[in-house]
Amino acid sequence: PTKLRVSEALSGAELGENVKVQGWVRSVRPQKANLFIHVSDGSSLQPLQIIAGSELNDPLLTFGSAIEVTGILKKSPHQKQPVELEADRVRVVGECNPVDFPFKIKERHGLEYIRQFPHLRCRTNAFSSLLRIRSEATTAIHSYFKDNGFMQIHTPIITSNDCEGAGELFQVEPSGPVHEEDEHFFSVPAFLTVSGQLHLEVMSGAFSRVYTFGPTFRAENSQSRRHLAEFYMVEAEVSFTESLEDLTKVMEDMFRSATEHVLAHCAEDVDLFHKHVTPGHRDTLDAMVKKRFPVITYSEAIDILNSSSQKFTFPTYWGCDLQTEHEKYLVKHCGNIPVFVTDYPYDLKPFYARDNQDHPEHTAAAVDLLVPGVGELCGGSLREERLDLLSARLQEVGLEDTYSWYLDLRRFGSVPHGGFGLGFERYLQCILGVDNIKDVIPFPRFSHSCLL
Ligand code: 4AD
Ligand code: MG
Repeated sequence: PTKLRVSEALSGAELGENVKVQGWVRSVRPQKANLFIHVSDGSSLQPLQIIAGSELNDPLLTFGSAIEVTGILKKSPHQKQPVELEADRVRVVGECNPVDFPFKIKERHGLEYIRQFPHLRCRTNAFSSLLRIRSEATTAIHSYFKDNGFMQIHTPIITSNDCEGAGELFQVEPSGPVHEEDEHFFSVPAFLTVSGQLHLEVMSGAFSRVYTFGPTFRAENSQSRRHLAEFYMVEAEVSFTESLEDLTKVMEDMFRSATEHVLAHCAEDVDLFHKHVTPGHRDTLDAMVKKRFPVITYSEAIDILNSSSQKFTFPTYWGCDLQTEHEKYLVKHCGNIPVFVTDYPYDLKPFYARDNQDHPEHTAAAVDLLVPGVGELCGGSLREERLDLLSARLQEVGLEDTYSWYLDLRRFGSVPHGGFGLGFERYLQCILGVDNIKDVIPFPRFSHSCLL
C-alpha cells in the first residue's frame, strides 16, 4: 500500500487505491456490523473516516491512541467528507489510557484548560488549528517581504547592545566557569536580543530593504495577557524613507496581505476558531481587512482620551506613555479597526528615533499601530540619520562610546531611513481574537514559568 497523509487521502486523488494512513484517533463509534474511526495526523483539520468490520475492533482503540490503517480509499456517501477508507487492517501503534488522558472525547476544552498541558495541547482541535495558522502566517509574512523586494537577514540572538534601552535584558554567560582572566565569556556583557533593529540598520545601508523574523527576548516581569519573555518579532528597515507614511504603508500592506493569505490558505482552521473558540470575532476581522487604517497624531490621541467619559486607571496628559487601556479605548473610538498613532513625545522614545524639529511640541517621528483586543501591535520610527543630532543625543544619555559603530553608519553614506517591529504573537491574537498571548505560541515563556 502507498503511504498517504490524511490531507492527501482527503484530496480524492487516490480513490480506489490501496493505501496506508497513520495518525491519532479522534473518535471511535462501534455500530452493529461496522466500526467508524476518525483519524487525524495534523495535516488537515478534517479527520479521515475509517470504516472497519467490527471484527477489527480492539479495546486499545481509544480516543488519543496512535494507529496505522491499511485499506482501499472509497468515495464517501456522506456530504461532509469526500472520501473514506475501507480498512482491512487496523493496528494500534501506541495506546492511550482514556482515564489518564487529560482530554476527553467529544468535549470542547477551553484554551485555559488545555494550557496546563503544553506537551499535549497540540492534540486538541483548537490548538492544532492554531498552530497550522501560525505556520501559514509565517509563510505569508516571508512571502510578503519576498514579493516586495526585501532581503531577509539573520540578525544575532546574542548581542552586546540594548536597542530599546528599557533594561529588560537577559544576560548570557556559560553555566560553567569563564576563562580565568576574563569576567565575561565574550569579554563584554552579552545579552539575548530585545530587537534586531540596529543590525537591520547596518544592513539597510547596503541592501536598502531588509527584514528579519525571529525570536526576541525581554525580561518583562508582568504576567500580562500580551507580554512574553520570549516572543517572535517581524522587523523591517527601509532606506531612502523620508516620511512616516512610507512606513505605515508597509505595515498596513503587510498586515492585509498576510491576513488575506491566512484566510485563503487556512479557511477551515480559521472558521473553526471563530466558530467555537472566539465567537463573534469574524466580523471584527473582516472589518480590519476591508477598511483603511486611520492615522492620528499622539496629540490628537491625548485630546480624545482627555475628553472621554471613561475613567482610566492611569491619568492621561500630554507626555504620558499610552497604557493598554488607553490604546484599547483609541481603537474603539476609531471604529474598532487598527489605527496608527504618530509623533510621540521625543522623551518617550529611544535614542534612535528621529527628532521632529519642525513641530511646535518636541516630538519624534515614531509610529505605533494599535489593534482591536490587543492594543500595540507594531512600533516603528524614522531613525535619526543626522550625525550631529544623533551624536548629541547619545552623548546626553552617556552611550557615545558604546555606539561609536552606530555613529559610523551616519558618517559613511547615511540616508534617511526607518523601520518597525511587529509582535507576531500579538498579530495572531489580533486576527484570531485570542485574549491571552500564552495561547498563540507553542511553548510560552514568562516570569516564573519555563515549562518543558
Ligand atoms: O515597540 P517595540 O519595543 O519596538 C522595537 O523593539 C523596535 N526596535 C522595533 C523596530 O523598529 N525594528 O516592539 C515591537 C513590537 C511591539 O509593538 C509588540 O507587538 C511586540 O513587539 N512586543 C512584544 N510581544 C510580546 N511580548 C513582549 N514582551 C513584547 N514586547 C514587544
Ligand atoms: Mg513599542
